[in-house]
Order: sequence, then structure tokens, then C-alpha cells
Amino acid sequence: MALEWWRKAVVYQIYIRSFADSDGDGDGDIGGIRSRLPYLRDLGVDAIWITPWYPSPMADGGYDVADYRDVDRRFGSLNGARRLIEDAHAAELRLMIDIVPNHTSSEHRWFREAWASPRGSAARARYHFRDGRGPGGSEPPNNWRSVFGGSAWTPAPDDGAEPRQWYLHLFDEAQPDLNWDNAEVRAEFESILECWLAMGVDGFRIDVASFLLKAAGLPDVPDHSEAISRADDAAWDPAAHPYENQAGLHEIYRRWRAIADRHPGTVFCGEVHLPAEGIAGYLRPGELHTAFNFDFALRPWNAAALRASIDTTLAAHEAVGAPPTWVIGNHDLPRPAYRYGRRAARGGDGWNAWQRNGPADRARGLARARAAALLGLALPGSAYIYQGDELGLPEILDLPPEARQDPTFRRSGGADVGRDGTRIPLPWSGSEPPFGFGPPGSRPWLPQPGQWWELSVEAESRDPSSTLSLYRAAIRLRRDHPGFDSGSFRWLPSVAGTLLFGRGGGLACAVNLSDDPMPLPRGSRFLLSSAPVGSDSVGPDSAAWLQLPEAEQAGQAGQTEEA
Ligand code: NOJ
Repeated sequence: MALEWWRKAVVYQIYIRSFADSDGDGDGDIGGIRSRLPYLRDLGVDAIWITPWYPSPMADGGYDVADYRDVDRRFGSLNGARRLIEDAHAAELRLMIDIVPNHTSSEHRWFREAWASPRGSAARARYHFRDGRGPGGSEPPNNWRSVFGGSAWTPAPDDGAEPRQWYLHLFDEAQPDLNWDNAEVRAEFESILECWLAMGVDGFRIDVASFLLKAAGLPDVPDHSEAISRADDAAWDPAAHPYENQAGLHEIYRRWRAIADRHPGTVFCGEVHLPAEGIAGYLRPGELHTAFNFDFALRPWNAAALRASIDTTLAAHEAVGAPPTWVIGNHDLPRPAYRYGRRAARGGDGWNAWQRNGPADRARGLARARAAALLGLALPGSAYIYQGDELGLPEILDLPPEARQDPTFRRSGGADVGRDGTRIPLPWSGSEPPFGFGPPGSRPWLPQPGQWWELSVEAESRDPSSTLSLYRAAIRLRRDHPGFDSGSFRWLPSVAGTLLFGRGGGLACAVNLSDDPMPLPRGSRFLLSSAPVGSDSVGPDSAAWLQLPEAEQAGQAGQTEEA
């Protein structure tokens, strides 16, 4: 496989807890992934990214890491991880893991040591401990908010002295932020990368990659600022984000890149919540290879909005010679089949996309999610698929409160139901829970809807019109059609509310986001469509891949630009 496989890879995201449970304890695990490698191979993806599998108290689904060099017993063992890496490679699948450098778990040995150490100690200097404000230090050191709700500060143990000290956590209080100005922290993470590369992993997805450094003095933010930046925010204001996108981060990632370069074929994918130009700043030569394109994922189901996102994404990445990524779902975002089916799906801003606030038209949402999949898979660069989106799984909104585990639910006082409804264990087969997720009679960590037999891999494999069949066909075509090999991209004329673009070799993608049929260039041949099509048109909420007639290819080439 080419060393730069990541330039056009299809990467499948495995949320390990909810993928497949081999031992019946209710949590997915490494054994489950190994047993499902044939499924991933048949699906045709090039690589898998596995969410954190490290020992963790699971305060945030494993994004609270207690030991970066081991595997949580609920997920398996280091030996199991080694075997999985070997098996994946034998199946020609690359394997990326998640690295979580912004914060540790409060159960990490470093934080336990800091907790037990005096103020001003070297142990505390690995984190952000600060004196509180107000009488006796009774108020947090600044006004930063946790992304999960509430203050980003929690009091340190009371040592009887004043002012009281607090520690910073931009996420849950069980996820203290590391101090990346500390040399020991930097050295430790470089060594952790080396450790996993020596085990054979092919890359890392970097959790909140743009958060690691904080502005000197930890200044207050203006009252209006969101806890997390907005990928679609054209007027991004650095003063509102003193914990994000700090200039010194680039040096950290240049050092990481040098490590990756010593292991050819390795890739980094940064989770960077910034507009396209901001992302591209991390993808300059010698820095990260790729980063998530949240801007695209957060756009409403609207032709002009998506077109603008594609344009700015392509231009920004082109300028630094890095491939874009196309993402419509992950374990944090509401499922696309839900998102695109809400009343607000056509308008609204990016913030709206994160909300799980009310009902959606299921059929419409699914039709659009299928069309969006064809759109994302047709664009130049790499594409990410979040497990279960290939089955068209809906968002589950009505989980009982006692089943919810996402800290967002608790920290927001229930105002935000959180992300559990996006993380329901996958249905594989059979007619009743656990639908092959675990052995018969086992109880998945989150309840599965009784109806999910109809969305199982088994059921969808039998149905040529299923979402799974569509994904399989699309990924196969993406591999086989030479038009996907080139980086070429050009917009072709199309009616309002629709998108039409050409790739190499006469390959084109048509997406209809309007309420009327979308006429196609005369003589186009359908290669694949997300829904039944007319003889020369694509219906509303649908997309198709086309082979353009020779004349059309020649005629259009002069009229439109190569991106
Ligand atoms: C981003 C991860 O995707 C999310 O699941 C997690 O809660 C936060 N980072 C904190 O680690």
C-alpha cells in the first residue's frame, strides 16, 4: 500500500465500547473488533480509527486516560491489541488509535501525585493549578467554562492555606488539563507516540489537538464566548479562545511529525475545530498530515452552504498541499440521519448541528444522509465513516435518564441530553437485543431499540436497496473508478439548489438539495444513486454518481475551473 495512503483513504471510526462485544460484559472490545475485520474488509474501507482503549474510569467514554501505555481490561489487553494490529494488517487495513494529550484522567498517576503534593510542587506544575479569586480564593481563577457545562475549574484539596487553589479542566472535572509548557509533559507524549508506533499502529487521531496550550496568564474570555470554537465561524475571535489555537502548538506538532516521519506510512489526523484556513495552518509541510473538517459536517442541508464549504476547504488545503477530510458523522455529532431530517436542517448555523433538540423526519433524514454519503465519498481527499452511519442508524433521543452516561448530561443539569444516543451498540444480526453485538443474553451498556433488527448488518446485507448496500457499492466504485485517483475537481453548471461536479475521467457527482427533480447533462449514465432515479434526473434529497458523455466532458472542461 502506498506510503501516502491517507491522501485518499476511507477511514472507518470504531467507537470501541459500542462496536462488538466478544466476552458478553456489555462493552465492545478488541476481540469484537478482531471478529468483525471481515465485515470491514467487505465494506472496503482502507483504515480504521479506534477511539481510546486505554485504562480509564470512563468518566468520558475513555477520553479520560489513566495510563497511555496500556489497554483497559474491559477492552482486552496489550497482547490483544498487538494481535489486532497484525490481523488488521493481514486484512490490508491500516489502524489508527486515539491519542488524548490535552488532559489525563484524574486517576492518572501524575494527577494523583499532584493532588497529594503541595502547591508550587513539580507534580502540580504538570497541570494548571492556580489560586482562586475572591475572599480566600473561593471563586475560580478565571471565567472559563467547561465544554461540557459549568465552570472549567474545580477546587484542589483544602490544605488550610489561603487563597484556595483550583485546577483547570476544559472538559469534565475528571479530565484535568495538562500543562503543555512543561517539558516533562512534552517528552512523555513523544515517548507514548514512539511506544505505539513500535507496536505497529499506522497513525493517531489527536483529541482536541488545538487546545493543548493556553494563553499566558489564563485571561478571562469575553462573556459571550462559547466554550468551544465554531468551525464555521468566519469572524473567529482569538481573544474569545485563549485556550485554543495558540501559536506555540505548531512547534509541538513539528516535533511529532518528525517522529512520524521516522515511521514511514504513519498519519496524524488532528481534531481541530477551526474554519478551513485555521485548519490548514496545522497542515503546512512538516506539521500534521490531516485534520477533521468539521466545517463540512456542520453545514445545513443547503446547496449554497455546502458549496461554500467545499470551496473554502479545497482552497485552504490546496494552499498547503494537504488532503482534505470529509466527515458527516462521529461519536460527538448527532447522527446524520437525524440531523438532516430536522425542521431546521436546511438553514441555521453550525451550532445548530450539535443540538439534539427535537424530532426529525426519519425518512427525509435518512434520504439526505445517504445523499450526503455519496457527496462526501466523491470529493477529493479522504473520507471518514462513523460506525453505524453505513447502516443509516438514527439518533436515539429517548434514553432513560438513568441510562445516560455522557458527562454533558449531568454537567448541563439535563439541558443537553448528551451524546449517548449516537453511541448505541451496533446491531449485527438476529431479531432481539443484543442483535449480535454481544453473546445471546448479554446486556449492552446502553439499551438498543427493539426495532433495530431491521437495521442490522444481517438484514441490510440481504437488501440491495439498504444503506449498507449503498455504502458497499460506493466504496467499491471509489476504489475501482480511475476518476477518483486524480485530485481534479471542477464545478459543472446545474440548477439552483443542486450541486454538480466533475472528477477525473468523466466521473461526476450530482446532489439534489432542492424540492424539484434535478435535470442531468444529456447522455449521462448512472453509476450509482442514493435513491431510485428518473431516466435523466435525480429526485429531491438524493445524489448520484454519473459517467458523463464524452462531448459533455470536452465541452465543460473549458467552462469551469480546476480546483
Ligand atoms: C473530543 C472527543 O471526540 C470527545 O468525545 C471528548 O469528549 C472530548 N474530546 C474530550 O476528550
